[in-house]
Amino acid sequence: MHTITFALAKGRLAKTTMEILKELGITCKEMEDKSRKLLFTSDDARYQFFLSKAQDVPTYVDYGAADIGIVGKDTIVEENRNVYEVLDLQFGCCKMTVAGEPHKKALLESGQTIRVATKYPLIAKEYFESQNRSVEIIKLNGSVELGPIVGLSDVIVDIVESGATLKENGLVVLQEIMPLSARVIVNTASMKVKHEEVDHLLKQLRKVLEQSND
Ligand code: PRP
Repeated sequence: MHTITFALAKGRLAKTTMEILKELGITCKEMEDKSRKLLFTSDDARYQFFLSKAQDVPTYVDYGAADIGIVGKDTIVEENRNVYEVLDLQFGCCKMTVAGEPHKKALLESGQTIRVATKYPLIAKEYFESQNRSVEIIKLNGSVELGPIVGLSDVIVDIVESGATLKENGLVVLQEIMPLSARVIVNTASMKVKHEEVDHLLKQLRKVLEQSND
């Protein structure tokens, strides 16, 4: 029997994932202890878990340092790593959008070059290329909504979940790019070498998802 190592995107995604795994009987007391430990072993010693920044999850999985990663679709597309995306976990649902002040809609639809601030330069580039739109992309690392407010950019490409951040800053969704949610990614070699374990786990996860949809 092979041990399966999980890389989990820190935060809500990791918390919800551990709740789902608990339903499958996979528990990890070590993870709940307040310690500086980085790598955790499940109570049955069949699984290992570590938490990382979302952007690093596809990297760990690509290199085989983790067999399985749980991360948002936004990060999977942006990081563009060689991994298999195998399952939509149907939580953490939100949207990748183009947003800005309402009056920017006309500019967005015109042929003029616009400035776009985003944490997702690849997604933005591919989206505007597909629209044959010429844009200047400005990479930011957070609080992207500031871009249009302080005059750094005309619009932003960013995630909208509840819409509260946009609303509180006088911004609206101008275009929708893609729906997002938490996904399971698998290392390409693990898919073969650890086929039995990975397959069993995916089957169980699918069952839990089906039950929660009923
Ligand atoms: C995300 C996203 C938006 C916000 C959207 O940012 O980039 O700013 O959440 O959520 P809402 O529609 O529910 O308001 P995050 O909280 O990850 O922080 P960041 O802006 O520093 O990246």
